[in-house]
Amino acid sequence: MRSLILLLFCFQIFTIPAFSQKKKIGIIGAMPEEIKLVLDSLKERKDTLIKGQVFYSGKLKNKEVVVVESGVGKANAAFSTTLLLSFFDISQVIFTGVAGGLNPKHFPGDIVIGTSVFHHDYGQILPEGLVLRKTRNVLNKVQNPLDFKCDSVLIAKATRAGIGLVLQKVEKRTPGIYTGKIATGDVFVSDKKKAEWLFNGTGSSAAEMEGAVVGQLCYQLDIPFLVIRSLSDNANNEATVDFNTFKVIASQNSALLLLRILE
Ligand code: ADE
Repeated sequence: MRSLILLLFCFQIFTIPAFSQKKKIGIIGAMPEEIKLVLDSLKERKDTLIKGQVFYSGKLKNKEVVVVESGVGKANAAFSTTLLLSFFDISQVIFTGVAGGLNPKHFPGDIVIGTSVFHHDYGQILPEGLVLRKTRNVLNKVQNPLDFKCDSVLIAKATRAGIGLVLQKVEKRTPGIYTGKIATGDVFVSDKKKAEWLFNGTGSSAAEMEGAVVGQLCYQLDIPFLVIRSLSDNANNEATVDFNTFKVIASQNSALLLLRILE
């Protein structure tokens, strides 16, 4: 009996309680605009407050989900993702939101389904400039890869879901859906030269501020993830104005693809 009590005590200490045993899909967006359509479609909604952060549980297209607005930037994304993965029984994570397009052939409203995500601001500043370095997994002390690969099944589902999907037009142009590498950093990129460096130097299609955090945490905890981004701007000198003009349409296009994936 004493050993049973001891066992239960150890279990209490060494496991983090999940609110439910049923596996759920975690959905993260950084800004209110990015999760609005998702929350509008959420059925049987139940709000849970953890450390001041609201987590919206419910059903989307009959799938159990937990939605959270992380806030912008890497620290905010780390906070929300950690709470999401610690307090809910999450089987996979999908990030939905906007990004700056880096491929000159892509325009606002277009969607980039992430094939991988990486930190474009993690590394070493040498006289010749920034050299990207690998992060290290604090859980096992092993170096992480530079690129965190999005789950191939989720990429395939997203690609299929995009076929025939009617997206919102931007200035009479029907947006396209592409796949590509996504660059994450704690900066809003609004400089043509930086955008060119990210496109030509790292082969990325979109720049944003949260995806690689979600990717790194999911990689370290072995949870499949996907990052979907619709372009609000081209990360160039006009990016601030374009972002404000197109962020709502782009947020909606990304959410439309997410909802179709869940169907
Ligand atoms: N999110 C939307 N546009 C962005 C940009 N240009 N840079 C970083 N994050 C973004």
